[in-house]
Amino acid sequence: MTLSAALAGVFDDLASGYDHEHHEAVARALLDLVRPGPAEAVADVACGAGAVALQLARSRPATAPRVLAVDLSPGMIAEGRSRAAAAGVGAAIDWCLADAVPLPVAGHSLDVVLCASSLHFLGGRAPADWRRALRPGGRVGFTLPAVTHFRPSARFSALLAADVPLPRGAGDADAWITAQGFTGAVSRVHDLGPRRVVVTTAVAPGGR
Ligand SMILES: C[S@@+](CC[C@H](N)C(=O)[O-])C[C@H]1O[C@@H](n2cnc3c(N)ncnc32)[C@H](O)[C@@H]1O
Repeated sequence: MTLSAALAGVFDDLASGYDHEHHEAVARALLDLVRPGPAEAVADVACGAGAVALQLARSRPATAPRVLAVDLSPGMIAEGRSRAAAAGVGAAIDWCLADAVPLPVAGHSLDVVLCASSLHFLGGRAPADWRRALRPGGRVGFTLPAVTHFRPSARFSALLAADVPLPRGAGDADAWITAQGFTGAVSRVHDLGPRRVVVTTAVAPGGR
């Protein structure tokens, strides 16, 4: 079985009983740090059931570009579509069932790339693709669990990318994304119940 098929299987199994409360809190923290503008083209990478895409869509005017939401799990995408319809924002999100690396977009076509709770599955190839997809000076925002508080199941552990070290805190996350070619990194640490999450934003090269 390929890694993509294994990931899709694990997250399909999780889709109907997903921990929405935690992921909504992570999405809030991410959007609060990055604050995409109402006219900006945004992708929610490995969107799952759309925690980020839905919150963003709910907060934007009807004239905003549709949020591109990409995930390889059919179960998660189906859950996201039905949550978006129920929230009245179905028309504001483009759902895409695909591997999120590379993103299905032209080079330099996005203003903001958001990736909540997923980069540790995508691996280090993801930030290289984000630099391709973002316009010069565009922004990335992502979250990772702090290594000090991360207790994955054996099934999850087997799927983690070896080349994305989980941060101990803000400094590790800033240093890692800077080493991937981004600038101006800013990270915040959030304690959400028993879990600690590091939320980071940074700027793609080439802007003013
Ligand atoms: C922990 S969930 C987070 C989902 C969502 N971002 C959220 O905040 O709730 C991780 C997601 O990453 C997706 N995923 C993992 N690897 C992927 C890949 N290569 N391409 C697209 N989606 C991927 C999984 O299907 C799953 O929905």
